[in-house]
Amino acid sequence: MSTILLAIESSCDDTSAAIIKNDTILSNVIASQKVHETYGGVVPELASRAHQQNIIPVVDTAIKNAGIKLSDINAVAFTRGPGLMGSLLVGTSFAKGFALARQIPLIEVHHLQAHVLAHFIQEPGQQHTTPKFPFLCLLVSGGNSQIIKVTSPLVMEIIGTTIDDAAGEAFDKCAKVMDLPYPGGPYVNKYAMDGNANAFQFNKPRIKDFDYSFSGLKTSFLYFLRDRIKENPDFIQQNRNDLCASLQKTIVDILMDKLIKASKQTGIKEVALSGGVSANTALREAITSQTKQRGWHTYIPKFSYTTDNAAMVAITGYFKYLKGEFATHDMAPFAR
Ligand code: KG4
Repeated sequence: MSTILLAIESSCDDTSAAIIKNDTILSNVIASQKVHETYGGVVPELASRAHQQNIIPVVDTAIKNAGIKLSDINAVAFTRGPGLMGSLLVGTSFAKGFALARQIPLIEVHHLQAHVLAHFIQEPGQQHTTPKFPFLCLLVSGGNSQIIKVTSPLVMEIIGTTIDDAAGEAFDKCAKVMDLPYPGGPYVNKYAMDGNANAFQFNKPRIKDFDYSFSGLKTSFLYFLRDRIKENPDFIQQNRNDLCASLQKTIVDILMDKLIKASKQTGIKEVALSGGVSANTALREAITSQTKQRGWHTYIPKFSYTTDNAAMVAITGYFKYLKGEFATHDMAPFAR
């Protein structure tokens, strides 16, 4: 018998709803909030207000696009955290209200677990290859840089994490210093395409085990530019492509060094990439190149499943539904 779930994601600045039938996604609607661009970062109060406005139309469109009826939905999954509290409250309250009104079970989903399980989303008419257990997942986003050992859909262990900034934050903060728009990661990626990645050298941190650190890179990038601008006020404009390429190479090298170390020490060669930064071309190339060099099997999700989306919440909800892991209505969202 098939199971149909409605999933809601509202942890940051994207309001998203998806419908999944077993592991196959029928619709995935995302309303991104443009309002934050003017401020150079997400403004929490504005994000929750926009979620309030978006949630009903987004859910309505997801149901229509999936071609199902309200009465076909067997359960509702929602992102419980981590994220912005006001944003999470909108999705959580909506999911609770929907579950109560329809008298169906509620499933709480951890946002990061959902990013990892995005690799298991299937689409109608296509059988997409999924990672074999156990696999390592490099989860890199605006808020996280982690290496996760995934033993089964619902059993995972963080074996490495950032001790300060995330990789996406390093991209965004360094981009801001170069006066690029927010979020800067995609702009650094774009300018890096025409730059020399060996033009400038930035120090890599020495951190234990599989952990990461990116705050030192941000500071050294800032000081480097400050010194060069003193000599030449147009330094950034004249060297933008090379700066972006060198910065990107440093971040990718830092990420890859620990991932290779983790693969060597665990003996795991199934390697997956998740989170917003996985859109980065250099990182994708670096991971893929290990297929030949080290015999890895690598997995990179479709772009629309790497950024925040409800399809990944839906697939996680489906795994939990199969295990009968349901939430109670007194469950509150968590920010961290
Ligand atoms: O997972 P995600 O969509 O959400 C949050 O964590 O909020 O990740 C967003 C992050 C941002 O830091 C953004 O700059 C980064 O992913 N990003 C990229 C690229 N596309 C998005 N960083 C580098 N290269 C890209 N092409």
